[in-house]
Amino acid sequence: MRSLIDILELDTTEIQQLIDKANDIIANPVKYSEKCKGKKLATLFFEPSTRTRLSFEAAMYELGGNVLGFSEAQSSSAAKGESIADTAKTTSCYADIIAMRHPKEGAPLVAAMNASIPVINAGDGGHNHPTQTLTDLLTIYREKGRLDNLTVGFCGDLKFGRTVHSLINALSRYENIKFVLVSPVELKLPSYVKETLKKNNLEYVQTTDLDSVMPELDILYMTRVQRERFFNEEDYLRLKDSYILRPERLNTAKADLAIMHPLPRVNEISVEIDNDPRACYFKQVLNGKYIRMALILKLLEVE
Ligand code: NCD
Repeated sequence: MRSLIDILELDTTEIQQLIDKANDIIANPVKYSEKCKGKKLATLFFEPSTRTRLSFEAAMYELGGNVLGFSEAQSSSAAKGESIADTAKTTSCYADIIAMRHPKEGAPLVAAMNASIPVINAGDGGHNHPTQTLTDLLTIYREKGRLDNLTVGFCGDLKFGRTVHSLINALSRYENIKFVLVSPVELKLPSYVKETLKKNNLEYVQTTDLDSVMPELDILYMTRVQRERFFNEEDYLRLKDSYILRPERLNTAKADLAIMHPLPRVNEISVEIDNDPRACYFKQVLNGKYIRMALILKLLEVE
């Protein structure tokens, strides 16, 4: 039995298999509509979510399965002081697989150590978000036809953005990826993630200036400044509008740039860009459902 806590638990062959499976699901949805009949997914969300929880639930329904769970800590026994371990043991009595989001780094790992069913990390604090990364990889693959030979810009809150951390780790295993890290100095990529780049001798540049790097990017991965992880509101207010992508900023961008964002967007991308053919963030939302269907099939070992 396998869980998914960190994207690096999947090797690149397995990632390609998940992408291929998602593409097959997109092409032949009916073939999969009863694959998880009689199975239950528990969504244990201790932190707000729209896309991740709903895409997990939609994924399970489209596989013919059912869903149970909670969407805020306050409505679970966590509010009475129950431990993650006990919640995991309890959920194992009722469901076949768990998707858990938690504000504390490592909470889904603790759940996996105590559950008797697979646990999927649906985001743990400022740490990791492996299923968003699978979503991102599927999107890159569908847009570009490859996961190698790309210049990828990450822009915004690279310190607290868990989707950034997981995607950088994932991309570090592909050939000839150049990482362009754009953030205010205060929100630079944490050194433990930068270690991955250094250790693998990967090419990266760090800058505060988005416009100067725009022409070289194949992918621009915009992110929200993660207000809930700040220690004080003043810092958040000072940094929140560091980068706002407006149409004129794209004048120097490649014609086939893919603009991505894990969403939710606050105001990092002006809505005028939504109709630009380079905007991929709503395609990403849909891809998230298909790749989670592929992942559920894999972890439940459904043929
Ligand atoms: C992200 C998250 O929760 O980390 N959202 C998501 O799952 N698509 C990004 C964010 O909240 O900024």
